[in-house]
Amino acid sequence: MKTILTLLFTLMCFISFPQQKSFQPGAIWPDNNGIHINAHGGGILFYKGTYYWYGEHKIAGKNGGLAKVGVSCYSSRDLYNWKDEGIALKVNETDSLNDIASGCILERPKVIYNAKTNKFVMWFHLELKGKGYDAARSGVAVSDKPAGPFTFLNSFRPNAGYWPVNVQPFHKKSVASIVKEKYCGGKGCLPAPPDSLNILGRDFKGGQMARDMNLFVDDDGSAYHIYSSEENSTLQISKLTDDYLSYSGQYFRVFTERYMEGAALFKRKGKYYIIASDCTGWAPNAARSAVADQIFGNWTELGNPCIGEGSALTFKSQSTFVLPVQGKKDTFIFMGDHWMEKNLIDSRYIWLPIKFNEKGNPILEWKDAWSY
Ligand code: GAL
Repeated sequence: MKTILTLLFTLMCFISFPQQKSFQPGAIWPDNNGIHINAHGGGILFYKGTYYWYGEHKIAGKNGGLAKVGVSCYSSRDLYNWKDEGIALKVNETDSLNDIASGCILERPKVIYNAKTNKFVMWFHLELKGKGYDAARSGVAVSDKPAGPFTFLNSFRPNAGYWPVNVQPFHKKSVASIVKEKYCGGKGCLPAPPDSLNILGRDFKGGQMARDMNLFVDDDGSAYHIYSSEENSTLQISKLTDDYLSYSGQYFRVFTERYMEGAALFKRKGKYYIIASDCTGWAPNAARSAVADQIFGNWTELGNPCIGEGSALTFKSQSTFVLPVQGKKDTFIFMGDHWMEKNLIDSRYIWLPIKFNEKGNPILEWKDAWSY
């Protein structure tokens, strides 16, 4: 009887929610239950033939930016059709002093698989409940299974007591006494250029700030955390420990005073690329791109990768991840969020194919619908 009911239910789902065969950037994207996917600021893990999409679970209304539920997970084998796998990491509902207490801000979760420990490791940007965007911490959670449940381990600021590989002599000297602490959600928060105030030196003891973030695993299995730091003015890239659970103490500053957010790192033909956004809160802006031969090397900015109508505002989106499509040579998908600031649960997903010009530089162009 149970089997017949399951079969009937599957049939009904199939009839009411036909399989999707293309991406429709900016449209409502129904999951297997017909509900708009709720995995914002997300990232994707490919594991044993299945893609897992993790993202911020948003709630309806003006407080949608607060984490009241946790991190969502969806699975798919074709990237078009996604099954709701439930909440991979739940916020803590009972202890309001817990780092991930309900009502905290938990953004841009990403998951990577550690082959040595056989664990799935999640990192996310964490802001403590009731403290606005002041904490600027990284949170880490772990699971034995890709869809979770994940267990929260710890949250901290990166690399306390360590200088970056490319530290400058002045960083080890004086720190300006007047540093406006308040996060303003963009440029113009500080009374002077961040390096002149030595934000890096200010945070040496307590750890560097970490807000918008991503993870990247290189071909040799080394994992990196890339995040907006130093009051969002500068990106830092930190090498993780072999178990991916903490920082190794080796890190590198890039794009100083360029206020980049939403940075997504990927590798193509031996070169490393970053697609990122400017820093304007939920409002869209012009994307940035850059290339380097080594992660801890010289990064050259390549400008806005977007072309055509809508390119000045990244087609109303902000980068969150670049996905290499498995088994399809040279196929990369740009994943962005079209934020609906007043009702964040309604934010849309802008997924576009990345083309590469004759120099190998990434190019993004709008498409109403497309498939790979
Ligand atoms: C954006 C950032 C988002 C979120 C938002 C809050 O700049 O990319 O992840 O933090 O600001 O205003």
